[in-house]
Amino acid sequence: MNDPDGVASGGTEGAGAEPENPPVRRLSSWDAASLAGLATEFDTPLYVVDTDRVRENCERLLSAFPDADVRYAVKAHTGRAVLETVREAGLDAECASAGEVHRALAAGFPGERLHYTAVNPPARDLDPVVDAATAEPGLTVTVGAVDTLDRLAERGYDGRVCVRVNPGIGAGHHEKVTTGGAAKFGIPYDRAADAARSAAERFDVVGIHAHAGSGIDPDQLDSHREMVARMGDLARSLTRPAGDDVSESGGGPDPIDLEYVDVGGGFGVPYRESEPALDLPAVAEATRAALGTIPPAPGAESGPRLAVEPGRYVVADAGVLLTRVNTVKPTPDEDVVGVDAGMADLLRPAMYDAYHPIRNLGGAAGEPAVGDRPAPRVTVAGPICETGDTLCTNRAIARPARGDLLAVGIAGAYGYEMASQYNSRPRPAEVALAGNESRLVRRRETIADLTTVEVDDGETGPTGDQGAGR
Ligand code: LLP
Repeated sequence: MNDPDGVASGGTEGAGAEPENPPVRRLSSWDAASLAGLATEFDTPLYVVDTDRVRENCERLLSAFPDADVRYAVKAHTGRAVLETVREAGLDAECASAGEVHRALAAGFPGERLHYTAVNPPARDLDPVVDAATAEPGLTVTVGAVDTLDRLAERGYDGRVCVRVNPGIGAGHHEKVTTGGAAKFGIPYDRAADAARSAAERFDVVGIHAHAGSGIDPDQLDSHREMVARMGDLARSLTRPAGDDVSESGGGPDPIDLEYVDVGGGFGVPYRESEPALDLPAVAEATRAALGTIPPAPGAESGPRLAVEPGRYVVADAGVLLTRVNTVKPTPDEDVVGVDAGMADLLRPAMYDAYHPIRNLGGAAGEPAVGDRPAPRVTVAGPICETGDTLCTNRAIARPARGDLLAVGIAGAYGYEMASQYNSRPRPAEVALAGNESRLVRRRETIADLTTVEVDDGETGPTGDQGAGR
């Protein structure tokens, strides 16, 4: 296997001027000295998120989709600094839980810019979201099952609803994130029109929604377009009922005045340094073409708008994970480079076999500059007692030595967000960059943090009742 990444030597920064807002920010373009300074100041493992790059990604999305609603799927990175940047840039927020709604509200998103997507929602989600929607009536609840509609009605909710459809077509970087055809998500396409019409009797149905999956590669764009086309057909059948194509008072079902057709997120980013970036303007154009024109419902001023909800695209290349080499172990099979970050810090390689570029930033005492070292093939492994705990295998990297700092690239999306305390490892710290400033935005957890939620016998009381908050 070749390493086509060109990051093995780690010495490419400063080579050539970057365009103003490039379609991807490569790991090779991060400034090695600044990252090394942050690792020294804040220790490792350390996430670094560049909010300027988050803003650039938002700007590219808004300019590719000028007439669409662009919603950030906050599950990719819910850090306060990111949410505030995205809000200021003008994107809405798409939230997957009451916790995400809470954090988006705290970051200043008003109700009319909040979209909560309910997936088998526990009452613990529905109750606070209905409360939030009462306080902020512009909030929209996206619903993928008739049961969820019933449960909203039981709570007295009659506000804005978007009907999530299972389009029967999926795409994504891994089967675990290929959503479109999975029965778990959305109302089956053939039943969606009826479900939307009957929902409109109880709620203000403002949109329809489908999400093909996450990390859609350029070669999967046909599936994405097919999904979008199906959503366009559904929207046309809802806004202008069958058998009523000229008059406004024919005998078909009542038309629904949809505000939008949300075709989900999923725009892929190039994890390998050699992979080309997605041509976002071309994808946007193809998406608009696939959706087609949707005439307004009778009496409505305009037809539904296109909506998209990218997560990864907004934050992936705005983040890196810094990790320090503590062990170098040659073995007959492979050379293992042990580092202080593992699957508890960045789960994606273990969970999806995901590729993240890795660059040696150097720093080991007595070693030559990384650009002058050979680049043998190594396995980079974390400190977790599990075989799958590797950040890469068989990868050419400028020969790592104990004390070197490694940067793991394109780690801004689903990085910290999926971190855990597995093996009782405190979660890492995170630093946000803005202009020339850096500030700690999430402190490193401590070993004491690991036990803060444990309830000992003394606190449970004589009945052992600790259920009130559960
Ligand atoms: N909308 C909905 C309803 C979603 O479920 C998702 C992602 C998105 C939008 C945003 O998709 P994106 O633009 O980020 O691809 N942990 C996985 C990704 C899981 C995505 C789940 N849903 C990973 O690390 O690749």
